[in-house]
Amino acid sequence: MPDLTTRFCGLTLRNPLVAAAAGITETAERLKRCEDHGIGAAVIKSYFQYEPARHSPTPRFTVIRDSLGRDKSFCLYSFEQANVYGLERFAEEIARAKAICTIPIIASLNCITPERWDEGARLVTQAGADAIELNVSCPHGVHVMSHADMMDEMTKALRTVKAASHLPAIPKMSPQLSQPGAVAQGLAAAGADAVTMFNRFTGLDIDLETEQPIMHGGYAGHGGPWSLHYVLRWISEVSPQLPIPIMSSGGVSDGGDIAKLILAGAQTVQTCTAIVMQGYPVIGKLLQGLSDWMDAKGYATCDDFRGKVCDRIKGNDDVDRVKRLVAEIDCGKCVSCGLCARVCIYDAPEAATGHYVIPEEPCDGCGLCVQLCPVQAITMRPLAVPRTFTLGEK
Ligand SMILES: Cc1cc2nc3c(=O)[nH]c(=O)nc-3n(C[C@H](O)[C@H](O)[C@H](O)COP(=O)(O)O)c2cc1C
Repeated sequence: MPDLTTRFCGLTLRNPLVAAAAGITETAERLKRCEDHGIGAAVIKSYFQYEPARHSPTPRFTVIRDSLGRDKSFCLYSFEQANVYGLERFAEEIARAKAICTIPIIASLNCITPERWDEGARLVTQAGADAIELNVSCPHGVHVMSHADMMDEMTKALRTVKAASHLPAIPKMSPQLSQPGAVAQGLAAAGADAVTMFNRFTGLDIDLETEQPIMHGGYAGHGGPWSLHYVLRWISEVSPQLPIPIMSSGGVSDGGDIAKLILAGAQTVQTCTAIVMQGYPVIGKLLQGLSDWMDAKGYATCDDFRGKVCDRIKGNDDVDRVKRLVAEIDCGKCVSCGLCARVCIYDAPEAATGHYVIPEEPCDGCGLCVQLCPVQAITMRPLAVPRTFTLGEK
């Protein structure tokens, strides 16, 4: 059994999995449920200074599945904005949570004025919070801002919080950035103790019958498993140079996803949609999945593989472009559905009696048919003579 203990901003977590700010962490009792199911730490649902945000519309959830109806990359599209509580009551809830939980509880604040950032930081510190996440990236409140204005707003909030509290301050970044690396570096330079990458995107869905935006009639948070690969990409790029730890947020749907985020360099890994969609018991399954993978790989701790993928990511110049493989159909498995022939832009698959075949020419070895074959009848096989190329503009 691997040791999942994780150090983060001076805190010791029993494992790297953190319940992300959302309705699932809004009250002391819900935080306790996260703890009882094994979570390492939890971020209490954000306090919002903007008061209307404390009243979420009904209904506020839509599950958008991919076009093939598959679940692995669904989007949880939702408009659930703020904790229902005002600031003092919010701080009380943190104190209540601290009285019944032993895991670190991270306060999440979303303020508009410097005075309220200051007051919020002081109150949650007095209440016993273990760190402060600065929700400066809510997808429902995002207005388009220049990079400079956004950095200015985030760093001002950060400096105010740092001046008001000794707690680790963790800005939660928007994914809607052209330069997440520069933003993370700027926040580190301004005193952030860690960054959370990322909050959700802002999305829109439209009811084709009424031709209106769905649910409450506006934009909403667009997150869930599909976002994993975006988060992985940026954490793998940013983590090697960043002097502070990264708490990932976005896309976890199984224990393997936690392992991937740590391989990309995350110190801790938040999860939200998995708990929203499957209930608190999924926490145990996610951790078991991580432990099983670590056992299989022989890793004793998360430090043993953290960031391991970062120097394995190839640039354009390093990609092996020699064609070495082509597709091959197992005629015993092929059910002759013809999907491979319909999608092949090289017109490679040919109908034979009761099955298809793929001649070596004109197959280009792209591998799409392998991915799409509904009965897994297609595999890739090595070409006897790889197809090399020479550069030279024509
Ligand atoms: C229903 C819902 C409510 C959320 N509320 C908050 C919030 O109050 N504050 C915040 O910083 N993030 C909030 N988030 C974003 C999550 O904390 C998390 O960053 C995001 O969902 C990405 O993780 P996931 O892919 O595991 O869901 C919310 C997300 C969902 C789905």
